[in-house]
Amino acid sequence: MDSEVKIESENTPVVKMVGISKSFVGTQAVYNVDLDIFPGEVHGIVGENGAGKSTLMRVLAGFYPDYDGKIFIRGSLERLFSPRLLLAMGVSEKDIRTMLVNNPSKLLGI
Ligand SMILES: Nc1ncnc2c1ncn2[C@@H]1O[C@H](COP(=O)(O)OP(=O)(O)O)[C@@H](O)[C@H]1O
Ligand SMILES: [Mg+2]
Repeated sequence: MDSEVKIESENTPVVKMVGISKSFVGTQAVYNVDLDIFPGEVHGIVGENGAGKSTLMRVLAGFYPDYDGKIFIRGSLERLFSPRLLLAMGVSEKDIRTMLVNNPSKLLGI
């Protein structure tokens, strides 16, 4: 029985985003995006400048609560997000530029 429970939990996405849209005044930054991330997966969000990559990740990280759609973290529907709460749940948005400034050794691979 224990193993059945474990298999079921491994099939639950760590992050599930359904129909996510986010607009700023006059700009539809993200429209109707679905994204499932399962345990152990690494995803690249790829698109041209202005495609909405950063906005999508900032919605996930709780910086823009005024989005449309649904976000599930480990199967739970989350709505009252805050960056601090999400950080406690293991979700954060790490700006690549901050990483490069703070951790030059990471950039250089040393
Ligand atoms: N805080 C903001 N206020 C107004 N418009 C924004 C804001 N952030 C992003 N945008 C707009 O939303 C669109 C998507 O931007 P962004 O998510 O930064 O794209 P990407 O990260 O893929 O380059 C762009 O048109 C951008 O100008
Ligand atoms: Mg960006």
